[in-house]
Order: sequence, then structure tokens, then C-alpha cells
Amino acid sequence: MNLEIIMRGKIRSPLTYEGNKYKVIDKLKKELGTQKVFVDVFGGSGTVVANMDSEIRYYNELDKKVYDLIENLSLTHVLSIVESVRVFQEHFDLNNELKRKENYYRARYFYNNNKKTLNLFALSKNSFSNYIRFNSKGDFNSPCGKISCKDYKALRSKIKDFQEAMSGVNFKNLDYLNLVYEVIRENKNEKDILFYFDPPYLGTVATYNNAWGESENKTLLALCELLDKSGYKFAMSNVFTKNNLVFQEWAKKYNIIFFGNVYNNCNYQLKDKEKTEVLIKN
Ligand SMILES: C[S@@+](CC[C@H](N)C(=O)[O-])C[C@H]1O[C@@H](n2cnc3c(N)ncnc32)[C@H](O)[C@@H]1O
Repeated sequence: MNLEIIMRGKIRSPLTYEGNKYKVIDKLKKELGTQKVFVDVFGGSGTVVANMDSEIRYYNELDKKVYDLIENLSLTHVLSIVESVRVFQEHFDLNNELKRKENYYRARYFYNNNKKTLNLFALSKNSFSNYIRFNSKGDFNSPCGKISCKDYKALRSKIKDFQEAMSGVNFKNLDYLNLVYEVIRENKNEKDILFYFDPPYLGTVATYNNAWGESENKTLLALCELLDKSGYKFAMSNVFTKNNLVFQEWAKKYNIIFFGNVYNNCNYQLKDKEKTEVLIKN
């Protein structure tokens, strides 16, 4: 990775994404260390892989819309991305304060009828908290936000930094199980591989949680055990809540690093809605 980027500090993904790891990236990076191969299995916004220094890096994401967005933000020429945001906003007159809401919902309808990746990015620059949310049919349904993107220079520089940080990353659009087997196949005889899992968290709210339940979680834990026994490294971000004591028991077999300061590390008594963020690694 470019030394200039490393000196500049942490990289923020141009995509504002629910559950992204930007806030804890420094601590996470320190805990993950550097291996020959780093695999961001549940890549989301790309925040984690963009900040890692491994020689070989993988970004994986199952949701095709999110995957396409990150691939485009990483590989499409920065000027055409910024230009597409500008043209989209002007076309729908999204800076018109009086008609902003009405114009935004027209733009959203337009996107849902053609699903062009860079239009989704432009829409996200205008949505509530800049989030991308979808309904069960896969239609974008984030409500209108207060402002649109006006500082194209700042946007350009953010995308440029992200692109430099993502340079050389391998992109995959697979279910996590297939991804793990594919990475092992592609890196035959290499054991210095870290599989980093940041799956949807059970019992928390995010649009990508819909297709993730107890059974997916169980399979993921079994996969971690298998990776451990086979000599690979794994690390998993997750949360401890009052309702996942079995998971907490499982985690005790490995190293648990506490990220949240919801409660004292030695005190396992969580109140009803409290949760604390953890990293579990072998
Ligand atoms: C907690 S988010 C990851 C956030 C990411 N670490 C970041 O910093 O932006 C979990 C991601 O896993 C993806 N996902 C859900 N099920 C998956 C699966 N079976 N295989 C791969 N990715 C999946 C979701 O679409 C979502 O983007």
C-alpha cells in the first residue's frame, strides 16, 4: 500500500454504511496484526480491508448492490464518479430546498426502475444519514436526508484516498462459506491467512440482518473452529448481549478483546438492552 496513505492515517469509505468499523479501526487494526493474506469476509463498506497492510487482500460481500457499489468506487475513474453524482443531483434538482423531498422521491423511484450502481451512490449522498437501506424486494427505501452533496472537491479527495487504499484488492461476491474455500484454494500451501468475520449481529437491527439467523451463526462458529484446527487465523467482530450467553461461552475458548465500554470486562451481568462490542480471535 502507498506510504503516503499510511502516513495520512485511517481511510474512510465513501459509502456511509450501517455497522461500518471506521470508529474502531485503529484498535481493530492493532488487534488483527499483519498477515500475508487478509480476508474481509463480510466486507460491507470496505472500511476494514482498505485499512489493512497485508500483501494479499480480499474484499467479499454477498449483497450484489453493495458489492457493485464498492467495486465501482474502488475501480471507476474518480472524476466520472464525482461527475455522475453532480449530474444526478442536477438532473433531479436535489439542491432545490423547496422541492427537495418531492425531487428526492422522484430520484429514488427512477433508481429503483433502473438500478444503476452510481445512481445509488448519488442517492446515498442525499438520503437520511447517507444510509443505503432496501426493502424485502431489494428496492432502495431510505427516506430523504436534509442535505445533498455540495463539496465535490472533498468528495473527489475522499474517493481518491479510498481508491489508493483499495488498489490491488481482490474482489469477491460470494456467500462466506464459498469464499473461505475459494481463498484457501487460491492460496494453496499458504497458512498465514487471517479470515476476518464481521457478520450481521443477531438481535441487532440492520437491513442486512434479514437473511441471517441462528443457523447461519452456528455454521459460522463451526467454520471458525475448523479454521482454527486447520492452522489458519480467524478473528470475528460481534456483540455480547444478555441474550447470547451460549455464544459468550463459546468465545471463551479463544481470545476475547472488549471494544465497547458498556460494562467492566470482568462483569458479565448485562442489563436488558446493553451490548458490548467484542473481537474474538484464535
Ligand atoms: C456488519 S456488516 C459488515 C460491515 C463492514 N465490516 C464495514 O466496515 O462496513 C455485515 C455484512 O455482511 C454481508 N453479508 C450478509 N450475509 C452474508 C453472507 N452469507 N456472506 C457474505 N456476506 C454477507 C451483509 O450484506 C453486510 O454488508
